[in-house]
Amino acid sequence: MISLFRATNFRCLESVELELAPRFNLISGVNASGKTSLLEALAYLGRGKSFRGASTPQLTRHGEGDFVLFGELEREHGRTSVGVRNSKDGLEVRIGGEDSPGAAALAEILPLQVIDPEVHNLIAGGPELRRRFLDWIAFHVEHDHLMIWRRFRRALKQRNAALKARSGEAVIRSWNAEFTDLAEKLDESRKAVLELTLASLQEHGRALLETELEFAYQRGWPKEKGLDEALNDNIERELQMGSTQAGPHRADLRVVYDDRQARKLVSRGQQKLLASAMILAATETAQAALEKPLLLLLDDPAAELDSDSVGRLITAVSALGCQVVATSLDPRALVFPEAPKMFHVEHGTVTAADQVISEPVNKGD
Ligand SMILES: Nc1ncnc2c1ncn2[C@@H]1O[C@H](COP(=O)(O)OP(=O)(O)O)[C@@H](O)[C@H]1O
Ligand SMILES: [Mg+2]
Repeated sequence: MISLFRATNFRCLESVELELAPRFNLISGVNASGKTSLLEALAYLGRGKSFRGASTPQLTRHGEGDFVLFGELEREHGRTSVGVRNSKDGLEVRIGGEDSPGAAALAEILPLQVIDPEVHNLIAGGPELRRRFLDWIAFHVEHDHLMIWRRFRRALKQRNAALKARSGEAVIRSWNAEFTDLAEKLDESRKAVLELTLASLQEHGRALLETELEFAYQRGWPKEKGLDEALNDNIERELQMGSTQAGPHRADLRVVYDDRQARKLVSRGQQKLLASAMILAATETAQAALEKPLLLLLDDPAAELDSDSVGRLITAVSALGCQVVATSLDPRALVFPEAPKMFHVEHGTVTAADQVISEPVNKGD
């Protein structure tokens, strides 16, 4: 749980400080006031990167040389601070007052998920996002997933380099043993994670879309073949392409639904609901494994959704028991089971409103 958050020179936020509530926080403000920037800053503290895919110069407030983010986390055994500074010299991370290497440490200490207006890409976009979706769960659930994933990436790079250099087949084959060993481990770990998450995926599918969902994991090489065989069969094509054509870097997670759902899924709103169901299931699964509430960031969840769907989404979010920070143009569009802590953003400045918005909905018209 993050209780205190500060951001300095992050996008339009010159210097903001928020005391966050443990359950529900709601940030409102007009267009371009800085709502998404605030969530992006929070997410950056737990990921070391932007969920909008922005670079450090884009994230740094115009005219400044660096940005700094700071959070105080309430944990089972007391408080920890986490700080991030980024400039053209690179990312500096401090956890509990000590220098810490890299973004993985951030993800471990402040695990979070994001549902933003681009979330439909998890359904509509390419397989990379869906692989990342599985790998995120695996990172939190399976102890050595990250290590295996990194070693696999390295083996893939080396094998690809050998293909590009048009090394002899013997040289390329010499990489196969390590490559397939790591590929199979990665594959096992993803399959295990999907099995672990499946019930939650289906439950959230029912809650948000009133539909039965099935998920098919495609491992990235043919069902009937071992990876080694698939590599050997393909070697001429691989030499032509200069890259490895089979393996878990080609995997996908296919969502299987009925015809009725397929017709509806041309709508971006439905895609958003389906993607949100997946994010909630991932959050629930990681949360159960880590035995602590995660942080869930909802950027403009009301966008693209009718009010019934928003209601179902917020109900499902609330049932997870995680810490929520949501944004909305109109704070009344999001109804939580208990009054959220309210913040108002204006030109990159944040004020906390202690009162729930009291302004009544117009009765006259
Ligand atoms: N690096 C930056 N420095 C200063 N302002 C920025 C920077 N990047 C974006 N902005 C500005 O921040 C404002 C807030 O954007 P955003 O957080 O997306 O608003 P909202 O989500 O409230 O609509 C925009 O006006 C944008 O131009
Ligand atoms: Mg926004």
